[in-house]
Amino acid sequence: MTELLNIVILTGAGISAESGVATFRGPGGLWEGHRVEDVCTPQALAHDPELVHRFYDERRANLAKVEPNAAHRALARLDAEWQGELLLVTQNVDDLHDRAGSKRLLHMHGELKSALCALCGVQSEWADPLPPGTPCPSCDAPALRPDIVFFGEMPYHMETIDAALSQADLFVSIGTSGAVYPAAGFVRTARHHGADTLELNLDRSEGSGWFAESRLGPAGTLVPHWVESLLS
Ligand code: APR
Repeated sequence: MTELLNIVILTGAGISAESGVATFRGPGGLWEGHRVEDVCTPQALAHDPELVHRFYDERRANLAKVEPNAAHRALARLDAEWQGELLLVTQNVDDLHDRAGSKRLLHMHGELKSALCALCGVQSEWADPLPPGTPCPSCDAPALRPDIVFFGEMPYHMETIDAALSQADLFVSIGTSGAVYPAAGFVRTARHHGADTLELNLDRSEGSGWFAESRLGPAGTLVPHWVESLLS
């Protein structure tokens, strides 16, 4: 086994593409069919809650039709077998890393399977449709919203992520376009603290130039290969 590196991994929509979850940018991406400002901002939620809730209801319902792929499973294997420090940070709101079995996992942009009370801030597991006005199981206010970090809101777990990046020996980015901050800046933070950097992506991303190495191809092939090389 390679010397016990301290590893931080960032994943984006590309890792779930081969499972049948739509990415955001590019042909057929979610942001081709919807304007970000209409469904993914606090203003949109205030202006047209029906539309915003329906958008996430549809995506939540789609989770029942998709399964983790070889890339999710490889990262879960790495989580189980890696003896050193490891943190998997995902921008994805699907539950495919969870279902594959990753444990050292943080969802920085929220989760489809969670509801957030806009009043008391309590998060509740949520599997069903979530109409606007649904009462919070904790405080009973009719204020439950999708537990999704909208543009203009603070991503979750940033203190933990920053601390992990400052300690990382290796930062690996998988299936993300590098278009959205703060995640797009993680490679620079990791480099600043001396980490080696590797990108695994279908094509060159906006951040490719910041990585010491970029391997291009589908995550379902590249990730198992990388994990195998690390564990052997
Ligand atoms: N394997 C690897 N990479 C892939 C694959 C695949 N099979 N399919 C697509 N990709 C790559 C694309 O080339 C692209 O670079 O995945 C990336 C997906 O980019 P985006 O759609 O922009 O998704 P992501 O980077 O996760 O978006 C970041 O933007 O709108 C927000 O909050 C949303 O978390 C999301 C954030």
